[in-house]
Amino acid sequence: MISSSKRDELIVSKIRNGTVIDHIPAGRALAVLRILGIRGSEGYRVALVMNVESKKIGRKDIVKIEDRVIDEKEASLITLIAPSATINIIRDYVVTEKRHLEVPKQIRGLIKCPNPQCITNNDVEAESRFITISIKPLKLKCKYCEMYITEDDVIRQIL
Ligand code: CTP
Repeated sequence: MISSSKRDELIVSKIRNGTVIDHIPAGRALAVLRILGIRGSEGYRVALVMNVESKKIGRKDIVKIEDRVIDEKEASLITLIAPSATINIIRDYVVTEKRHLEVPKQIRGLIKCPNPQCITNNDVEAESRFITISIKPLKLKCKYCEMYITEDDVIRQIL
């Protein structure tokens, strides 16, 4: 019998150099690709695995991108919609770095406040700022107008 990890390898092979974003909650891989600005025409070799078994989170998605690194801003946005994700840096087929994500206490400039009256939507120099109220479920509060936003609001902005 083939073990479940071996089965995953059959679905998509290992990569040589690049980034593997693993343990993404099932169904969120497309939002992760959107955060990375990958639409297909950029030419990156990308493998997407959706809804496979995971020992840690039930079902998961995986995104593998060859020859691409993830910057801090991208990692912070991924944290908001996939807090269980790990970012693996692969060099010469070996995982050289594994980052576990953590939702920051404050999120600056990454997402827009949905309140059209908020100062951050009316002053070109203002930067949005949200305070993390809860992580599970995700709930953020705008530091300026005190509007609350949820994970669904963040996903809607990304997609
Ligand atoms: N991976 C890959 N190409 C490689 C090496 C690893 O695509 N050359 C992928 C693996 O398939 C896995 C992820 O990168 O999805 C992390 O690899 P590894 O740390 O070896 O797996 P696990 O030990 O199962 O990771 P974790 O502890 O995070 O569950």
